Amino acid sequence: MKDILTAPFMVEMVRTATNMYDHGWDERNGGNISLLLDEREVREYLDADRAIRTIPTGFAAPRLDGQYFLVTGTGKYFKNVQYAPAVNLGLVRLTNGGEIAELLWGFEDGGSFTSEFPAHMMSHVSRLAVDPENRVVMHCHPANLLAMTYVHTLDEREFTRTLWQMCTECIVVFPDGVNVLPWMLCGTNAIGEATAEKMKTARLVVWSQHGIYGAGRDLDEAFGLIETAEKAAEIYMKIAHLPRLNTITDEQLHLLERRFGVKGREGYLD
Ligand code: 13P
Ligand code: ZN
Repeated sequence: MKDILTAPFMVEMVRTATNMYDHGWDERNGGNISLLLDEREVREYLDADRAIRTIPTGFAAPRLDGQYFLVTGTGKYFKNVQYAPAVNLGLVRLTNGGEIAELLWGFEDGGSFTSEFPAHMMSHVSRLAVDPENRVVMHCHPANLLAMTYVHTLDEREFTRTLWQMCTECIVVFPDGVNVLPWMLCGTNAIGEATAEKMKTARLVVWSQHGIYGAGRDLDEAFGLIETAEKAAEIYMKIAHLPRLNTITDEQLHLLERRFGVKGREGYLD
């Protein structure tokens, strides 16, 4: 059996959590990540037939039955992941139609997966239906996106258009735009279901006055999506109170669509 701490998925997870902390997106225990793993890869590092313990999930997700996830722990600090991965992360396999998580590795202090596990798993189901290669769901609390939800309309078309106008390459990075949920109680199945519904049409979902969710094929893609949206929100927060003399026009956004072979969300450009 190979040392799981050297597994590429583990190394990348630890690096990503550290990088997110360094970006200031994950104060205290803020934020959570789930990474869908390949069974064959997992079996190189552990005996997948020996569960340490089982944890009920509180929801059903038949699509994910038998799937393996590396996930951050509830109450755990991203800043500490690099120093104690086996305490702050866990590797689970979903069984019983997604209602039970078998812990195969990690959460060594008796901990459990993130309180946002419903939003993560339900979002995986939504994204896998759109893109079978999707593996990552990531949540964090970037300051500028959060700030924007206090002063900008939460209308998804308007929110997306504002972000597209803040940096030239935004429309190229997230042509599907940003979906927005109003404030909801976090850590519940209800916010999980609402997030998953929004994940059917975009890889970025803002939780107003809370944070953002990003999804992607790998950790870099999910990180890069959030990074780009957060940069755009930062520019918005720098200029929102100033007279705007120039902007990126819809005509220019159409030029970008053609140049980069992307199509902005239907109906979002004039
Ligand atoms: P967890 O510590 O349970 O992952 O919660 C952090 C968070 O960001 C809740 O939305
Ligand atoms: Zn949060």
